[in-house]
Amino acid sequence: MNIVESGQILGARVEDLDLSQPLSVIDFQTLEQALGRYGVLSYPRQTLTALQLKQFAEHFGKLEINVANVYQVPGLPEVMILSNKISADGKPVGLSDAGQDWHTDMSYSKMVAFTNILYGLEIPQRDGEPLGNTEFCNMHAAYADLPAELKHRLEDMTITHDFAKFWDAMRAKAGSSRAPLTPAQRQAKPPVSHPAILLHPITGRKVLYANPGYAMRINEMSEAESDTTLAFLFKHQLQVKYQYKHRWQVGDVLMWDNMGTLHNAVPDYRPDEHRYIQRCQVMANRYFATESA
Ligand code: OGA
Ligand code: MN
Repeated sequence: MNIVESGQILGARVEDLDLSQPLSVIDFQTLEQALGRYGVLSYPRQTLTALQLKQFAEHFGKLEINVANVYQVPGLPEVMILSNKISADGKPVGLSDAGQDWHTDMSYSKMVAFTNILYGLEIPQRDGEPLGNTEFCNMHAAYADLPAELKHRLEDMTITHDFAKFWDAMRAKAGSSRAPLTPAQRQAKPPVSHPAILLHPITGRKVLYANPGYAMRINEMSEAESDTTLAFLFKHQLQVKYQYKHRWQVGDVLMWDNMGTLHNAVPDYRPDEHRYIQRCQVMANRYFATESA
């Protein structure tokens, strides 16, 4: 394989690797290191069955089966469908608004997500330009640039993350088809706490582990101070200088490091401009022995 760095704040392209074929231990280790270093890896021109996508993803850890997710490839519950398409009988084919604001995946879970792996089968285009880009922010860099005093204060602090925050925010947007979370769903995903600063398991460097999608409260601060500090952190971590954009092409596999990056799905395409993506979410169980990062 050949890894071509983007030369930007995040991102590299992995060429000459056929993901439908078995992955050697050496190649896995190379990809794991590259994912830590570049945060976002793309593999162009892949041809995969959903089973092959799942088998590739399984090298990286345990796959999630999303409880809120009814959009699964038949017989393969670990492969979720993100799409704005509607089937012949009028039903949505996939989750149509996944990730359409800044967040990181599964910070609301005791066992956090390691890497999300997406396979783009249909990508909307207009005037020759791809639509529905996925944008990322670099949390190694955001941590490094924090004021020294804040770094020091956050060192021993924890943040509460809540699944319902993002769900309710997405639901409140015009035209959302998300149903209200049932009491049972809310109970199944109670808020959890994680350190505000994580030692990244691949790079061994510190990252800021906060995100506007799910972070609710810095537990060791008063509510007022937590609100002010979180507002500062959200603004800080989303600065354009930390951002990188993946411009999709059909056949791309895109994977990102959820501990070292935030992401945002850009909803700039119309219902008649179709996007269809298969997705496997890999949990961080290979790095964290217990249920808490
Ligand atoms: C996700 C997500 C982004 C995209 O799958 O968690 O945020 O561009 N997707 O589809
Ligand atoms: Mn996401």
